[in-house]
Amino acid sequence: MSSHISTKAAIAGITIEPCIFNAAGPLCVTKEELEAIGSSHSGAIMTKSCTFEPRPGNPEPRYYEDALGSINSMGLPNLGYMKYAEFSSEMKKYRKPYIVSVAGLSLQDNIEIVKYLGQFKDIDAIELNLSCPNVIGKPQVAYDFDASDEMLREVLKVNKHVLGVKLSPYFDFAHFQQMAGVLKKHKLAFVSCVNSLGEGLFIDADAEQVAIKPKGGFGGIGGDYIKPTALANVRKFYELLDRKVPIVGVGGIKSGRDAFEFILAGATAVQIGTEFMRSGTACFARVDAELKALMKEKGYSTLDDFRGKLKVL
Ligand SMILES: Cc1cc2nc3c(=O)[nH]c(=O)nc-3n(C[C@H](O)[C@H](O)[C@H](O)COP(=O)(O)O)c2cc1C
Repeated sequence: MSSHISTKAAIAGITIEPCIFNAAGPLCVTKEELEAIGSSHSGAIMTKSCTFEPRPGNPEPRYYEDALGSINSMGLPNLGYMKYAEFSSEMKKYRKPYIVSVAGLSLQDNIEIVKYLGQFKDIDAIELNLSCPNVIGKPQVAYDFDASDEMLREVLKVNKHVLGVKLSPYFDFAHFQQMAGVLKKHKLAFVSCVNSLGEGLFIDADAEQVAIKPKGGFGGIGGDYIKPTALANVRKFYELLDRKVPIVGVGGIKSGRDAFEFILAGATAVQIGTEFMRSGTACFARVDAELKALMKEKGYSTLDDFRGKLKVL
């Protein structure tokens, strides 16, 4: 009796089923971790953001979570871009998109990395992480609109893959407008919103100290704390990019209901970071089942039935 309910999504001709997969960073650094994602219900395999050189990352503790979310200052621990290219052929057996997150520490690094990845046909897409340091003393690339424009222009010149960007969160309508203006100048396959909310601080009142070691305790915030910001960014970019560019929603998703809200705001697919860190690969099947149950309750059978159809008062 129950009609078939599908949580399938497509981005630039790539099928993502379910529309739920891992966010770049948590538990996707090593080959074993990527294989665990491959074997799970995740709709795609996303790698840790890779840099030109392998990096050990910052001193520990560099991740901490409480009931409402997480703080991290990992320092981009990763195996270096060549390893993530090399893994691509082995990831093919999981029959789901393999997406390499790229976070070169300079424009030149990103050009080199993206050019190199172009030789690997088993890489399905690239997510260019713009929440990265630029010049010391200047904001990260995503908060420097001219640098973002130049980065996209130069990287897209050498790119051969489906390529999207991962943005930092914005908090001001003027900034949304400015970034959307930059994005519109380039041909992007998708836009992922949002990266960690920058430079927060967790304090342990009992110990009278910070929760993580790097940078005096400052770090990127994820989880429940950032969901309203993430939803706002998804909604704004969905509108400002004229509903034409697929938006990937990320930030505080831990249930099917959360995923539903992001899709209602306009997301084509969603990623899970902090909740994946907390509960492991089981979260993908659970969130998908919860999303399907909610869709059934509401009489929806595909994501298109409600994507972007958020009502305003
Ligand atoms: C431990 C950790 C490492 C992360 N590393 C990356 C990264 O390498 N590249 C990236 O684009 N985002 C990274 N992020 C940000 C997540 O991909 C995600 O955008 C953010 O955590 C918000 O989602 P969440 O609320 O589900 O955690 C990291 C987040 C965490 C918690």
